[in-house]
Amino acid sequence: FPVSVVLPAGGTGERTGLQTPKQFCSFLGRPLISYTIQAFERVSWIQHIVVVVAKEKMDLMMDTIQSFRHRKVRVVPGGSTRHRSICNGVLALGEREEERPKVVIIHDAVRPFVEEDFLYKIAMAAKELGAAGAIRPLVSTVIATTSEGYLDHSLERAKYRASEMPQGFTYDVIYQAYKRCTESDFEFGTECLHLALQYCGTNAKLIEGPPTLWKVTYKRDLAAAESIIKESLS
Ligand code: C5P
Repeated sequence: FPVSVVLPAGGTGERTGLQTPKQFCSFLGRPLISYTIQAFERVSWIQHIVVVVAKEKMDLMMDTIQSFRHRKVRVVPGGSTRHRSICNGVLALGEREEERPKVVIIHDAVRPFVEEDFLYKIAMAAKELGAAGAIRPLVSTVIATTSEGYLDHSLERAKYRASEMPQGFTYDVIYQAYKRCTESDFEFGTECLHLALQYCGTNAKLIEGPPTLWKVTYKRDLAAAESIIKESLS
């Protein structure tokens, strides 16, 4: 069945404290996003990859695609929030009816170490159930704080999981979820699985992923990512 990918890369990467968004930071002469694209291009059953980048990064992204000879990729402009960017990507995948995939995998551009066997699990579960997503055990306990900066309450760690990427949806579920959701969802939401449940009644299968799914977020992650890339090349 046809599977295509949306890679949201429209963020500014403020948390790294660097000028360049982390997806465009260079590792051994290649931007991080190019490693992520490569991970998907290597998978024979993946058809198209839509990369969503901020408008001002469109040229840089096109240059990257040319320099590293990415073949399956199209670039579309992002939106002001993560959901708006992903929605643009989903709409782009569906533009031509004959190319519309059965399953859409959504994956952050800043998680370059995703592997085919895990993508397969997500794609199969999404095809069968409508939605599927990667989870990981929590490293820290999550607490809610009061506006004055005191403890409000804490959550029982064993009951919660971190929602990671990739996530997979049938095209129909993710398309309808974005069509039906509100402006407030677009503005403040961060969870596609939640939109699928709330607006399509589709409850996602959650699958524990390997630790390598982690998101390159802070400056220290850049060094860790580089050493994994070096190891994989040696
Ligand atoms: O900010 P956060 O780490 O949750 O971003 C996750 C992914 O969403 C990143 O790959 C980022 O580039 C993307 N994003 C986007 N458009 C935005 C904000 C974030 O594509 N407006």
